[in-house]
Amino acid sequence: MRKYAVCGVSKRAIGMFIQPLIENFSEAGQLVGLLDTDAKRFSVCKEQYPQTAGVPEYREDQFDKMVTEARPDVVIVTGRDDTHVHYILKALAHGLDVITEKPMATTAEDCRRIMDAEKTSKGKVTVTFNYRYSPYHTKIKELILSGKIGRVTSVDLNWYIDTYHGSSYFQRWNRLREFSGGLSIHKSSHHFDLVNWWVDQKPVEVFAFGALNYYGADSVLNPKSKPEDGYYCGTCTVRNRCSYYTRWNARSKNVTVKDDHIDLNTKSTEAYTNYRPDQCVFDKEIQIEDTYTATVKYDKGALLSYSINFSLPYEGYRLAINGTKGRIETTEYHEPSRIPFPFPEQTIDFYPLFGSKETIHVVKREGGHGGGDPVLQEDLFLGVDETRPYPILSGSSDGAYAIATGEAVWKSAKENRPIQIEQLLGQTLPTS
Ligand SMILES: NC(=O)c1ccc[n+]([C@@H]2O[C@H](COP(=O)([O-])OP(=O)(O)OC[C@H]3O[C@@H](n4cnc5c(N)ncnc54)[C@H](O)[C@@H]3O)[C@@H](O)[C@H]2O)c1
Repeated sequence: MRKYAVCGVSKRAIGMFIQPLIENFSEAGQLVGLLDTDAKRFSVCKEQYPQTAGVPEYREDQFDKMVTEARPDVVIVTGRDDTHVHYILKALAHGLDVITEKPMATTAEDCRRIMDAEKTSKGKVTVTFNYRYSPYHTKIKELILSGKIGRVTSVDLNWYIDTYHGSSYFQRWNRLREFSGGLSIHKSSHHFDLVNWWVDQKPVEVFAFGALNYYGADSVLNPKSKPEDGYYCGTCTVRNRCSYYTRWNARSKNVTVKDDHIDLNTKSTEAYTNYRPDQCVFDKEIQIEDTYTATVKYDKGALLSYSINFSLPYEGYRLAINGTKGRIETTEYHEPSRIPFPFPEQTIDFYPLFGSKETIHVVKREGGHGGGDPVLQEDLFLGVDETRPYPILSGSSDGAYAIATGEAVWKSAKENRPIQIEQLLGQTLPTS
């Protein structure tokens, strides 16, 4: 039985790791320690899952004490993004394995430090890129591996985040680049990792544009008569004139909105100390981008054309992958309960370069992120499924390439020049 300690008792930590560990995988793993800066997070966890009542609690500066007393085999890193690197390095220094949420770190430089530390440690880093595990995404991987589209030449990926999910990033710590790396890292690293994994090539160069169009003090959607800070949705006097608030809330009661990342509990001002997850999306401190377009060149010739927008009427993505023998296309409409229009069921269409089109109806699974989360949990807690004929669990190198691509995107947008991935990472990395 492996022993696990959690650094950062976040909403994600509780739902993705703690709950399954105690309810579904208790024969394979045991939770032996909880670490966070905020003691409130321990009580939130213990109230939700009374089985964790006896698990020892440690503060930010007590990592070494936790290792000595609780003796974990694995450290699960699930706090605010900028705190990941600290706990990963500490765990590796103790020779422990690490399971870290994406993004592994918030800068390419910190990825370098992690990879250097891993070289001399007994411990190994696993990055939980759960999007790989969606049944649609594994099917696409299998189609490419089968050779049906030949060598991948180009990818078009347009990702759409709706006004509910998108605005939530601008209400929380995620809105500061120092905490999240900005959304080209915090969010788009998922998408860059997917493409890197599908095409099985390494990103080498990025050119991008970015803008802040919807959020921040100068937004045309700001209902305040003059830009002013210090507003919170829970107490806001102009919220009934805020389109983001009124779209997803009622004046008279709490409305439940279904989402993989956020719920009323996440938004609750009671769930954290000295931190409110209902900050105003029109605050001046918001300087990150909410819109990007980017072009990425890969080492074996593939070209990616990518865009993302964090304030759209519905959520999902459009994807096309072109190869020397054919093309794959799919469109996802995410979270049906939030899409107020009729929309088609997701399929994967395969077009041979010369020949008849095939439409694939993918077998779906229950669970978060398109059914990907539960399968990832099995790989993490029971060991990788040996019947799957291709690698899927990511190591630190995959984590680093996804982050470096995201960093290259915002830096290219700021500096108006192409950015080389190798310059950010200082080296070409081995395959994870
Ligand atoms: N893979 C996915 O689909 C997915 C989805 C959601 C979140 N995430 C990731 O999970 C992590 C948590 O996100 P969330 O939205 O659930 O966060 P959250 O806002 O619920 O919690 C953040 C936690 O970090 C803690 N923290 C802050 N500073 C700390 C420090 N120095 N040491 C220890 N803990 C500290 C806070 O007290 C809080 O408990 C993030 O890395 C995020 O990127 C991944």
